[in-house]
Amino acid sequence: MPATTASAPGKVILFGEHAVVYGQPAIAVPVNKVQARAVVAARPGQQGIQITAPDISLNKTIKDLPLDHAISRAIHLTLEALGVSEPPAFAIKITSTIPLASGLGSGAAVSVAVVRAVSQFLGRQLPAETVNQITFETEKIHHGTPSGIDNTVITFNRPVYFIKDRPIETIEIKQPFTIVIGDTGKPSPTAIAVGDVRKNYQENPGKYQALFDACGKIAGNARWSIEEYRLQSLGPLMNDNHNLLVEMGVSSPELDRLVAAAREAGAMGAKLSGGGRGGNMIALTLPDKAYKIAGALLSAGANNTIITEVRP
Ligand code: MEV
Repeated sequence: MPATTASAPGKVILFGEHAVVYGQPAIAVPVNKVQARAVVAARPGQQGIQITAPDISLNKTIKDLPLDHAISRAIHLTLEALGVSEPPAFAIKITSTIPLASGLGSGAAVSVAVVRAVSQFLGRQLPAETVNQITFETEKIHHGTPSGIDNTVITFNRPVYFIKDRPIETIEIKQPFTIVIGDTGKPSPTAIAVGDVRKNYQENPGKYQALFDACGKIAGNARWSIEEYRLQSLGPLMNDNHNLLVEMGVSSPELDRLVAAAREAGAMGAKLSGGGRGGNMIALTLPDKAYKIAGALLSAGANNTIITEVRP
Protein backbone atom coordinates (compact mmCIF):
# COMPACT_ATOMS: atom_id res chain seq x y z
CA MET A 1 0.00 0.00 0.00
CA PRO A 2 1.52 3.36 -0.97
CA ALA A 3 2.00 6.04 1.69
CA THR A 4 -0.58 8.82 1.82
CA THR A 5 -0.40 12.43 3.01
CA ALA A 6 -3.15 14.88 3.89
CA SER A 7 -3.04 18.46 5.17
CA ALA A 8 -5.57 20.82 6.70
CA PRO A 9 -5.40 24.57 7.33
CA GLY A 10 -5.69 26.58 10.52
CA LYS A 11 -8.56 29.02 10.97
CA VAL A 12 -9.50 32.31 12.58
CA ILE A 13 -12.88 33.42 13.82
CA LEU A 14 -13.59 36.89 12.38
CA PHE A 15 -16.81 37.43 14.36
CA GLY A 16 -19.01 35.70 16.90
CA GLU A 17 -16.85 33.33 18.99
CA HIS A 18 -18.50 32.08 22.20
CA ALA A 19 -21.91 33.50 21.18
CA VAL A 20 -21.90 30.84 18.42
CA VAL A 21 -22.04 28.14 21.12
CA TYR A 22 -25.45 29.63 22.11
CA GLY A 23 -26.95 29.60 18.62
CA GLN A 24 -25.77 32.98 17.30
CA PRO A 25 -24.16 33.30 13.85
CA ALA A 26 -20.39 33.55 13.53
CA ILE A 27 -17.90 34.03 10.69
CA ALA A 28 -14.71 32.00 10.33
CA VAL A 29 -12.11 31.76 7.59
CA PRO A 30 -9.33 29.24 6.87
CA VAL A 31 -5.68 30.26 7.31
CA ASN A 32 -3.66 28.26 4.81
CA LYS A 33 -0.31 29.72 5.87
CA VAL A 34 -0.35 27.30 8.79
CA GLN A 35 -1.14 23.62 8.30
CA ALA A 36 -1.46 20.30 10.07
CA ARG A 37 -0.14 17.32 8.14
CA ALA A 38 -0.55 13.56 8.52
CA VAL A 39 1.50 10.93 6.67
CA VAL A 40 0.42 7.29 6.76
CA ALA A 41 2.73 4.45 5.69
CA ALA A 42 2.56 0.65 5.88
CA ARG A 43 4.52 -1.24 8.54
CA PRO A 44 5.38 -4.46 6.76
CA GLY A 45 6.02 -7.39 9.06
CA GLN A 46 4.69 -5.48 12.09
CA GLN A 47 1.37 -5.21 13.85
CA GLY A 48 -0.91 -2.43 14.99
CA ILE A 49 -1.11 1.32 14.43
CA GLN A 50 1.86 3.41 15.51
CA ILE A 51 1.18 7.11 16.12
CA THR A 52 3.93 9.72 16.31
CA ALA A 53 3.41 13.44 16.82
CA PRO A 54 6.76 15.02 17.71
CA ASP A 55 5.15 18.43 18.49
CA ILE A 56 3.36 16.89 21.48
CA SER A 57 6.05 14.25 22.22
CA LEU A 58 3.69 11.43 21.30
CA ASN A 59 5.05 8.07 20.13
CA LYS A 60 2.68 5.24 21.00
CA THR A 61 0.63 2.46 19.51
CA ILE A 62 -3.09 3.13 19.37
CA LYS A 63 -3.65 0.35 21.93
CA ASP A 64 -1.62 2.35 24.47
CA LEU A 65 -3.73 5.50 24.06
CA PRO A 66 -6.98 6.06 25.96
CA LEU A 67 -10.11 5.93 23.82
CA ASP A 68 -10.81 9.56 24.63
CA HIS A 69 -7.51 10.70 23.14
CA ALA A 70 -8.45 12.93 20.19
CA ILE A 71 -6.06 11.33 17.67
CA SER A 72 -6.94 7.78 18.62
CA ARG A 73 -10.63 8.70 18.50
CA ALA A 74 -10.22 10.20 15.00
CA ILE A 75 -8.59 6.97 13.78
CA HIS A 76 -11.18 4.67 15.43
CA LEU A 77 -14.08 6.70 13.99
CA THR A 78 -12.45 6.68 10.54
CA LEU A 79 -12.08 2.88 10.61
CA GLU A 80 -15.71 2.60 11.74
CA ALA A 81 -16.92 4.90 8.95
CA LEU A 82 -14.99 2.82 6.41
CA GLY A 83 -16.30 -0.45 7.88
CA VAL A 84 -12.74 -1.70 8.49
CA SER A 85 -12.51 -3.84 11.63
CA GLU A 86 -9.02 -5.27 11.08
CA PRO A 87 -6.83 -2.64 9.46
CA PRO A 88 -3.39 -3.52 8.09
CA ALA A 89 -0.46 -2.36 10.25
CA PHE A 90 0.40 1.28 9.59
CA ALA A 91 2.32 4.17 11.06
CA ILE A 92 0.95 7.70 11.14
CA LYS A 93 3.14 10.74 11.65
CA ILE A 94 1.50 14.05 12.51
CA THR A 95 3.21 17.43 12.28
CA SER A 96 1.75 20.91 12.46
CA THR A 97 2.78 24.53 12.09
CA ILE A 98 -0.43 25.63 13.87
CA PRO A 99 0.36 26.74 17.42
CA LEU A 100 -1.38 24.62 20.06
CA ALA A 101 -4.24 25.96 22.20
CA SER A 102 -4.11 29.37 20.58
CA GLY A 103 -7.47 29.79 18.82
CA LEU A 104 -6.17 28.80 15.37
CA GLY A 105 -7.93 25.44 15.22
CA SER A 106 -4.94 23.13 15.67
CA GLY A 107 -7.02 20.27 17.16
CA ALA A 108 -9.58 20.30 14.35
CA ALA A 109 -6.89 20.61 11.66
CA VAL A 110 -4.97 17.60 13.04
CA SER A 111 -8.18 15.57 13.09
CA VAL A 112 -9.13 16.49 9.49
CA ALA A 113 -5.61 15.62 8.26
CA VAL A 114 -5.63 12.30 10.17
CA VAL A 115 -9.07 11.23 8.92
CA ARG A 116 -8.17 12.05 5.30
CA ALA A 117 -4.71 10.44 5.35
CA VAL A 118 -5.98 7.24 7.02
CA SER A 119 -9.02 6.86 4.73
CA GLN A 120 -6.91 7.45 1.60
CA PHE A 121 -4.37 4.91 2.84
CA LEU A 122 -7.17 2.36 3.19
CA GLY A 123 -8.24 3.07 -0.37
CA ARG A 124 -11.35 5.19 0.10
CA GLN A 125 -11.93 8.92 0.43
CA LEU A 126 -14.61 9.75 2.97
CA PRO A 127 -17.08 12.45 1.96
CA ALA A 128 -16.40 15.91 3.45
CA GLU A 129 -19.57 15.65 5.55
CA THR A 130 -18.23 12.49 7.26
CA VAL A 131 -14.79 14.06 7.81
CA ASN A 132 -16.59 17.04 9.37
CA GLN A 133 -18.72 14.81 11.61
CA ILE A 134 -15.74 12.77 12.85
CA THR A 135 -13.78 15.95 13.56
CA PHE A 136 -16.75 17.37 15.47
CA GLU A 137 -16.62 14.28 17.70
CA THR A 138 -12.91 14.86 18.41
CA GLU A 139 -13.62 18.55 19.05
CA LYS A 140 -15.82 17.46 21.97
CA ILE A 141 -12.64 16.09 23.58
CA HIS A 142 -10.82 19.41 23.06
CA HIS A 143 -13.68 21.86 23.70
CA GLY A 144 -16.31 20.12 25.81
CA THR A 145 -19.32 21.69 24.10
CA PRO A 146 -18.10 22.87 20.68
CA SER A 147 -20.40 24.76 18.34
CA GLY A 148 -18.94 22.95 15.32
CA ILE A 149 -17.53 26.06 13.65
CA ASP A 150 -13.86 25.00 13.78
CA ASN A 151 -14.35 21.57 12.21
CA THR A 152 -16.63 23.07 9.54
CA VAL A 153 -14.36 25.89 8.34
CA ILE A 154 -11.32 23.60 8.38
CA THR A 155 -12.96 20.63 6.64
CA PHE A 156 -14.45 22.75 3.86
CA ASN A 157 -11.51 25.20 3.69
CA ARG A 158 -13.87 28.06 2.80
CA PRO A 159 -15.07 31.20 4.61
CA VAL A 160 -18.26 30.25 6.47
CA TYR A 161 -21.22 32.00 8.04
CA PHE A 162 -21.99 29.44 10.68
CA ILE A 163 -25.05 28.82 12.81
CA LYS A 164 -24.98 25.74 15.04
CA ASP A 165 -27.08 22.81 13.76
CA ARG A 166 -27.92 24.60 10.50
CA PRO A 167 -26.75 23.67 6.98
CA ILE A 168 -23.35 25.11 6.05
CA GLU A 169 -23.38 28.55 4.43
CA THR A 170 -20.29 29.86 2.67
CA ILE A 171 -19.68 33.60 2.32
CA GLU A 172 -19.21 35.42 -0.98
CA ILE A 173 -15.96 37.36 -0.68
CA LYS A 174 -16.40 40.15 -3.22
CA GLN A 175 -12.80 41.25 -2.96
CA PRO A 176 -9.97 39.74 -0.89
CA PHE A 177 -8.96 41.65 2.23
CA THR A 178 -5.95 41.50 4.54
CA ILE A 179 -5.76 40.54 8.17
CA VAL A 180 -2.79 40.39 10.51
CA ILE A 181 -2.83 37.68 13.17
CA GLY A 182 -0.88 38.29 16.38
CA ASP A 183 -0.04 35.50 18.82
CA THR A 184 0.21 36.41 22.50
CA GLY A 185 2.37 33.29 22.95
CA LYS A 186 0.17 32.37 25.89
CA PRO A 187 -1.56 29.03 25.28
CA SER A 188 -5.17 28.97 26.45
CA PRO A 189 -7.26 25.79 26.17
CA THR A 190 -10.62 26.65 24.61
CA ALA A 191 -12.47 24.24 26.91
CA ILE A 192 -11.60 26.38 29.95
CA ALA A 193 -12.80 29.67 28.42
CA VAL A 194 -15.97 28.00 27.06
CA GLY A 195 -16.63 26.40 30.47
CA ASP A 196 -16.19 29.73 32.29
CA VAL A 197 -18.57 31.50 29.91
CA ARG A 198 -21.14 28.78 30.52
CA LYS A 199 -20.80 29.18 34.28
CA ASN A 200 -21.18 32.97 34.00
CA TYR A 201 -24.16 32.57 31.69
CA GLN A 202 -25.85 30.25 34.21
CA GLU A 203 -25.19 32.73 37.03
CA ASN A 204 -26.23 35.78 35.03
CA PRO A 205 -28.38 34.67 32.07
CA GLY A 206 -29.85 38.12 31.32
CA LYS A 207 -26.49 39.83 30.94
CA TYR A 208 -24.91 37.01 28.94
CA GLN A 209 -27.89 36.51 26.63
CA ALA A 210 -27.75 40.23 25.78
CA LEU A 211 -24.01 39.92 25.05
CA PHE A 212 -24.57 36.88 22.82
CA ASP A 213 -27.43 38.61 20.96
CA ALA A 214 -25.25 41.68 20.36
CA CYS A 215 -22.43 39.48 18.99
CA GLY A 216 -24.93 37.75 16.68
CA LYS A 217 -26.15 41.09 15.33
CA ILE A 218 -22.55 42.14 14.66
CA ALA A 219 -21.84 38.88 12.78
CA GLY A 220 -24.92 39.49 10.59
CA ASN A 221 -23.83 43.05 9.79
CA ALA A 222 -20.25 41.87 9.20
CA ARG A 223 -21.41 39.34 6.64
CA TRP A 224 -23.07 42.14 4.69
CA SER A 225 -19.95 44.33 4.96
CA ILE A 226 -17.73 41.48 3.70
CA GLU A 227 -20.04 40.61 0.83
CA GLU A 228 -20.24 44.29 -0.19
CA TYR A 229 -16.50 44.90 0.50
CA ARG A 230 -17.28 47.69 3.01
CA LEU A 231 -14.06 47.52 4.99
CA GLN A 232 -14.77 50.90 6.58
CA SER A 233 -17.72 49.40 8.42
CA LEU A 234 -16.06 46.01 9.02
CA GLY A 235 -13.27 47.47 11.18
CA PRO A 236 -15.57 49.15 13.74
CA LEU A 237 -17.62 45.94 13.92
CA MET A 238 -14.43 44.11 14.96
CA ASN A 239 -13.80 46.69 17.68
CA ASP A 240 -17.39 46.37 18.92
CA ASN A 241 -17.09 42.58 18.97
CA HIS A 242 -13.87 42.81 20.98
CA ASN A 243 -15.57 45.05 23.57
CA LEU A 244 -18.35 42.49 23.98
CA LEU A 245 -15.77 39.72 24.44
CA VAL A 246 -14.04 41.84 27.10
CA GLU A 247 -17.40 42.14 28.89
CA MET A 248 -17.86 38.39 28.54
CA GLY A 249 -14.62 37.96 30.48
CA VAL A 250 -12.58 36.15 27.81
CA SER A 251 -9.97 38.78 26.96
CA SER A 252 -6.65 39.18 28.80
CA PRO A 253 -4.13 42.00 29.36
CA GLU A 254 -1.92 40.50 26.61
CA LEU A 255 -4.78 40.39 24.10
CA ASP A 256 -5.93 43.92 24.98
CA ARG A 257 -2.37 45.19 24.58
CA LEU A 258 -2.02 43.67 21.10
CA VAL A 259 -5.46 44.90 20.03
CA ALA A 260 -4.56 48.45 21.13
CA ALA A 261 -1.15 48.28 19.41
CA ALA A 262 -2.74 47.17 16.13
CA ARG A 263 -5.25 50.02 16.21
CA GLU A 264 -2.53 52.57 17.03
CA ALA A 265 -0.49 51.30 14.09
CA GLY A 266 -3.39 51.98 11.72
CA ALA A 267 -5.56 48.85 11.76
CA MET A 268 -9.16 49.50 10.72
CA GLY A 269 -10.30 47.29 13.59
CA ALA A 270 -8.96 44.56 15.86
CA LYS A 271 -10.25 41.90 18.23
CA LEU A 272 -9.30 38.70 19.99
CA SER A 273 -10.06 35.58 17.96
CA GLY A 274 -11.16 32.15 19.21
CA GLY A 275 -11.54 31.10 22.82
CA GLY A 276 -9.55 34.07 24.18
CA ARG A 277 -7.72 34.50 27.53
CA GLY A 278 -4.54 34.13 25.45
CA GLY A 279 -3.92 32.73 21.99
CA ASN A 280 -4.39 34.99 19.00
CA MET A 281 -5.93 38.30 17.99
CA ILE A 282 -6.66 39.64 14.51
CA ALA A 283 -6.46 43.08 12.92
CA LEU A 284 -8.11 44.26 9.71
CA THR A 285 -5.90 46.41 7.52
CA LEU A 286 -5.27 47.73 4.05
CA PRO A 287 -2.44 45.67 2.51
CA ASP A 288 0.11 48.52 2.58
CA LYS A 289 -0.10 48.82 6.38
CA ALA A 290 0.15 45.10 7.15
CA TYR A 291 3.91 45.01 7.82
CA LYS A 292 3.74 48.09 10.03
CA ILE A 293 0.97 46.50 12.09
CA ALA A 294 2.86 43.20 12.34
CA GLY A 295 5.91 45.14 13.58
CA ALA A 296 3.81 47.00 16.15
CA LEU A 297 2.38 43.70 17.41
CA LEU A 298 5.87 42.23 17.84
CA SER A 299 6.98 45.38 19.72
CA ALA A 300 3.91 45.06 21.96
CA GLY A 301 4.87 41.51 22.95
CA ALA A 302 3.49 39.20 20.25
CA ASN A 303 5.72 36.19 19.77
CA ASN A 304 4.60 35.66 16.19
CA THR A 305 2.51 37.30 13.47
CA ILE A 306 0.92 36.06 10.27
CA ILE A 307 -0.20 38.32 7.43
CA THR A 308 -2.90 36.64 5.39
CA GLU A 309 -5.55 37.42 2.80
CA VAL A 310 -9.16 36.41 3.25
CA ARG A 311 -10.29 35.22 -0.15
CA PRO A 312 -13.08 33.11 -1.64
C1 MEV B 1 -13.34 28.39 19.27
O1 MEV B 1 -12.58 28.51 18.09
C2 MEV B 1 -14.63 29.13 19.15
C3 MEV B 1 -15.54 29.09 20.35
O2 MEV B 1 -16.71 29.82 20.01
C4 MEV B 1 -15.91 27.67 20.74
C5 MEV B 1 -16.81 26.98 19.73
O3 MEV B 1 -17.47 27.63 18.92
O4 MEV B 1 -16.83 25.75 19.76
C6 MEV B 1 -14.91 29.78 21.56
